[in-house]
Amino acid sequence: MRNTKNNRPIGVFDSGVGGLSVLIELEKILPRENFVFLADQLHVPYGEKSKSELVGLAYRIVDFFINKHDAKMVVIACNTSTCYSIDALRRKYSLPIIGTVPAVKPASEKTKSGAIAVISTPATSKSRVLKKLIEDNCWGMEVFNVGCKNLENAVEKGNIDNPRVHILLKKYLKKIKNSKIDYLVLGCTHYPFLKKSIRKYVKPPVKLLDGGFSIAKRVGFLLKTNFLKTGKKTKGKTLYLTTGNSAKFSKVAGKLLNKTIKSKTVKI
Ligand code: DGL
Repeated sequence: MRNTKNNRPIGVFDSGVGGLSVLIELEKILPRENFVFLADQLHVPYGEKSKSELVGLAYRIVDFFINKHDAKMVVIACNTSTCYSIDALRRKYSLPIIGTVPAVKPASEKTKSGAIAVISTPATSKSRVLKKLIEDNCWGMEVFNVGCKNLENAVEKGNIDNPRVHILLKKYLKKIKNSKIDYLVLGCTHYPFLKKSIRKYVKPPVKLLDGGFSIAKRVGFLLKTNFLKTGKKTKGKTLYLTTGNSAKFSKVAGKLLNKTIKSKTVKI
């Protein structure tokens, strides 16, 4: 089924630039779709917020996507927001909402050593969702669940390989240094941008796993089964928005994605 309505955009949000690590996978797999990417930088970091704050922000963002952009689907490109607000969002809205959770399940299926580690924000690390993912998938395995404060803030500033970020990484990754892990799950969408720096402390054969590709595949599947795929034959467009400072967003996003980014500040 093809109709012009399906050219409506997919809303993608995160607290900041981290969600771009999901957006790039979406753009790769679904090049004809239009996206509206919103970085809620006025409220970053999400990883230190309460459940009610996170649900309240998520409501405002989804309302914004629906009312201002007529979004056909929403992708929560943020593990923290997903862990605390996806159930409330799905209860309130009828459009498809896809979340991002730490890739514990695939890591548990692939591990040979029987030991994995997950790094995430403090809120994700102590969330019921992550604990349940571990309980349900990692029976009899050794799992290191490491909450990392301030890592996302470094990425927000575009600091992906500076001394400050190395001090933080060294501190958090020390906990798994002499372990048997063969998979390290990057449970925050800001962390894929730190892969090169993480590799200084976590060497192969340990594999780094994030959820971007699987989420993009899932979005593609849901577009198809909900008859929401765009009918366009040309390349889609992405609109970059922030609730913070657009000059700062454009600069850091441009550095992370290695291309020129133009963005606009919006109120939600
Ligand atoms: N990028 C987000 C995540 O995946 C949250 C970062 C933050 O604002 O604390 O959890």
